[in-house]
Amino acid sequence: MERSPIPPQLPETIRRWDRRAIEEFGVPGVVLMENAGAGAARILLELREAEPGRYATPWRILCGPGNNGGDGYVVARHLHNAGEDVEVYLAFDPDTLRPDGDNTINLRILEKTGVKIDRGRPPWDPPRPVAPGAIGSIVDALLGTGLSRPLRDPILAWVRALNASGCPVVSLDLPSGLDAATGDVLGDAVRAVHTITFAAPKRGFVLGEGPARAGRVHVVDIGMPREIWEEG
Ligand SMILES: NC(=O)c1ccc[n+]([C@@H]2O[C@H](COP(=O)([O-])OP(=O)(O)OC[C@H]3O[C@@H](n4cnc5c(N)ncnc54)[C@H](OP(=O)(O)O)[C@@H]3O)[C@@H](O)[C@H]2O)c1
Repeated sequence: MERSPIPPQLPETIRRWDRRAIEEFGVPGVVLMENAGAGAARILLELREAEPGRYATPWRILCGPGNNGGDGYVVARHLHNAGEDVEVYLAFDPDTLRPDGDNTINLRILEKTGVKIDRGRPPWDPPRPVAPGAIGSIVDALLGTGLSRPLRDPILAWVRALNASGCPVVSLDLPSGLDAATGDVLGDAVRAVHTITFAAPKRGFVLGEGPARAGRVHVVDIGMPREIWEEG
């Protein structure tokens, strides 16, 4: 794990910090999401520059129904701006999105760009290009700290497909399916080569299956005022 000024934290602590940043300090949630996605895109570009043979394009960004998917849309926009070939795949019905969610705001922005967005259709089977032998790199933005129960289809099937694809996988915030508190695998979980995590490392990265599933962990500062994490 990369050095972080903040030791590993429980997901409920990070959620409480997020709330304080937004409600007490007035940092809009969409700004935290922008910082998260922009920071993650910078690290992805560094990975590709260091190992272009390994991180082939297109970047296939697999997005789930919550704010972890929202981070994925921001990453997609920044990679697109950097001239990268990017494809976004939705693992859920976009008509169910809350109109004022930070994730929805970023999906609406992305829809106005030239990035290809595959909205899927019932029953949201894993996208065809995520299959054994596929060329490209996968960004896992399916589920983050909002995971509340063992994975079920369709997301379970997407996790299995991306693990079987042989493509390098980079997870945003945490590997989908990993319990951020305990390092347990809930049904199944992504096996990431790298995990780009936001604000602070999660305790589950150093417990149970965490080290094997998260790979190398990078921590992105999302601009949460330091008073919040210093007070704990
Ligand atoms: N400002 C911020 O808050 C901020 C800042 C930076 C980054 N983030 C990102 O936001 C993430 C947290 O976002 P979030 O709270 O919206 O959670 P999330 O991790 O994106 O997941 C929440 C969504 O996943 C669904 N879900 C939960 N368990 C599932 C399961 N087992 N199988 C399938 N679907 C499941 C939930 O559905 P149900 O509602 O039906 O349970 C909900 O729609 C973080 O990990 C981070 O990536 C947030």
